[in-house]
Amino acid sequence: MELTSLERDMLEGKHGEGVALAMKVQVGTGKAFYAKRMVPITRAHVAASAQEGDLFFVTKLLGLGARCLVSPTTNPSMDLTYLEEHLWTMDEDAVARVKASDDAYRRIGATMTLSCTPEIEKNVPSFGEIVAFSESSATPYVNSVLGARSNRESSISALCAAVTGRVPEYGYLLDENRRGEILVEVQAKVEDDFDWALLGYAYPQKYKGPEVPVFTGITKRPTPEGFVQFGAELATSGAVAMYHVVGITPEAPTVAAAFGGNDVKARVTITEADLERVREQFSGEAGPIEYAMLGCPHLTIRQVGEIAALVEGKRFAVDTWVLVSSLTLELAERMGYLGAIHRAGGHVIPDTCMDVPGCWDIYYGRPGVTESQKCAFYCQVYGQRYAVRPLAQAVQAALTGEVVK
Ligand code: F3S
Repeated sequence: MELTSLERDMLEGKHGEGVALAMKVQVGTGKAFYAKRMVPITRAHVAASAQEGDLFFVTKLLGLGARCLVSPTTNPSMDLTYLEEHLWTMDEDAVARVKASDDAYRRIGATMTLSCTPEIEKNVPSFGEIVAFSESSATPYVNSVLGARSNRESSISALCAAVTGRVPEYGYLLDENRRGEILVEVQAKVEDDFDWALLGYAYPQKYKGPEVPVFTGITKRPTPEGFVQFGAELATSGAVAMYHVVGITPEAPTVAAAFGGNDVKARVTITEADLERVREQFSGEAGPIEYAMLGCPHLTIRQVGEIAALVEGKRFAVDTWVLVSSLTLELAERMGYLGAIHRAGGHVIPDTCMDVPGCWDIYYGRPGVTESQKCAFYCQVYGQRYAVRPLAQAVQAALTGEVVK
């Protein structure tokens, strides 16, 4: 792999041991993918988590003197102040890990946005920009909807990119790897955000590879939230970090342009029955629930407004958590949505993820409702039993304390 003199100096430790370690990880990754050189990045997003592996690595880099050259935005953590006041005493080790993790990312130079939807509000790349994004919903959005270029980074590789300010040039950074490979004919009706989530989960169940799919047959442009949920589910059910929707996403004005001369490697058809299968897979049991967890990925101000309208003058029957970015929280207050949800007894909480080990123990093994297949899928490891419903139905379940089939 060809390195510039600056990159060689970084690798040899002339910019400190931390930078050298970050560069070593990136050169190793580059060699594994036959990258010929490194290229500079202008943005990064680190799917920081308060989990042991990530904490170990960021602490190690910090200890070796590394600081970010390109300040990355970060994934959510836990709003401990709010949770300690309004909820319960969390597992002490988990709280210590959350605090140590937040502190380490702050000290290494991350911008503490603490949101899993940077791609639509706080870190929005432009067409053709080379970036290093981790986070399941963010990477496909950045590549496919915005036309920026990112590989499917891990929190560790994105942090290394932030420290060195560059990435190895391979994968989706190169024109030839962004072209379509799989032709997907969508025969199902895909109209609202929940339909997009179902489609995102259904496609990898029919085709398992990470090749770039080209979706045809879609006539209605999704909302930004629909695209966010689509990407989140594509990357939860499968490993798709780049896709095209013909006539909608910027690198796919036509089928031919989306394939860019590639042969069609496989054809996939998605029918109503495929979406129905996913709906059924996540429908859970009808009956009483004990909590609602909404906002995986974080909900936008439009979605919080929908919730506020649905609950005005009513009371939630169960603990209801609405997870948002700090910007959305601020907007929700300005718009009066926060008051409506608070009066109904709900919590709107910023900076927080539902998948932080040890922090949501109170709900382990108990039935709840969510709007997110991703949440239901990941939280299975904690024994949380979710019924997944479109947002309005999930809110309705939280008001009645019961999910209906
Ligand atoms: Fe966001 Fe955590 Fe879900 S990072 S997408 S709330 S698992």
